[in-house]
Amino acid sequence: METILAKPDENSLKLAGQLLRAGELVAIPTETVYGLASNALDGKAVEKIFKAKGRPMDNPLIVHISDISQVYDLVREFPEKARKLAETFWPGAITIIMPCSDKVPKEVTAGLDTVAIRFPSHTVAQQIINSAGIPLSAPSANLSGSPSPTSALHVYNDLQGKIPLIIDGGESEVGVESTVISVAGDIPTLLRPGGITVEQIENVIGKIHIDKGVVEQIDSHTVVASPGMKYKHYSPKADIIIVKCDGDEYIDYINALKNREHIGALCYDEDREKLCVPYVSLGKKKDYLMQAHHLFNALRQLDEMNLHTVYARCPKKEGVGLAVYNRLIRSAGFEVIEID
Ligand code: TXA
Ligand code: MG
Repeated sequence: METILAKPDENSLKLAGQLLRAGELVAIPTETVYGLASNALDGKAVEKIFKAKGRPMDNPLIVHISDISQVYDLVREFPEKARKLAETFWPGAITIIMPCSDKVPKEVTAGLDTVAIRFPSHTVAQQIINSAGIPLSAPSANLSGSPSPTSALHVYNDLQGKIPLIIDGGESEVGVESTVISVAGDIPTLLRPGGITVEQIENVIGKIHIDKGVVEQIDSHTVVASPGMKYKHYSPKADIIIVKCDGDEYIDYINALKNREHIGALCYDEDREKLCVPYVSLGKKKDYLMQAHHLFNALRQLDEMNLHTVYARCPKKEGVGLAVYNRLIRSAGFEVIEID
């Protein structure tokens, strides 16, 4: 199959809508990461997503809408706290899990009785949902296991030949996937940290629970609240090892390695001049938004550098830093060295 890579204009948006209505896949830009979209109400179309990505069928998808009123068709109940979150943060980088209606095919929910819904703020994403005239199920548009795509080129590199159309809406601004919160149970629970922080959410609906899987490794036998938590994620070719320390011990540790061949660093801007190995920087030490914005591109850049081990700075678990930590710890397979 030939893959068309097109800038958003009247023709390409119209084509995207036609393909989606016909049950085909289209990669779309969003403010978090690129999504691989299909008609969320057509189980056969949804199945194609899992095939193209190589994604396990038991990992449910997020349904994307372009107006809050579209929630009602997709849910059995729109809980008060969900409504407050939607009114405050949508359109934007938060996905809300609610009890699902029987209109949502089991391919989307992986058989769960809940559905994840998001209203993206990227105008091109909204235009494509409107052009299709249907809600769109979309996971990140990467091959399963590799870093999520934050540019159309990342999508092209992963999925060329497998999908008919990629709409290039520029670099994703947030750079990590949406915050996922479930309000389907009694206590609102954070399942994945993202661009909207715990503090922002608690300001609107009060105290929330943070699922254990957000910062800890879940073994493959545990039943998890969000199936995505248990899969290997964001893994570049080199082994990533996180180095946990406060100051320059990170630099001393790397520079003191006896054999520095094929060793690299994923560091902060402040470290660059002191390191004597090849590096990619995530941005300034305290600028969590910039670190999130750069993370997945940095992981893909490291792939080009022919490294076998990359030592990464350990992000702070606060604000959007929690989202960076959550992704990086998975890309490192939870391997952390602590230095005092
Ligand atoms: O920013 C984003 O959320 C991007 C863009 C494209 O919107 N999408 C995205 O989708 O990251 P995906 O499929 O890569 O991640 C969805 C996550 C998975 O971890 C999945 O397990 C979880 O949400 N999820 C989806 N539906 C769920 C449900 N009903 N209950 C629990 N977890 C759910
Ligand atoms: Mg993903």
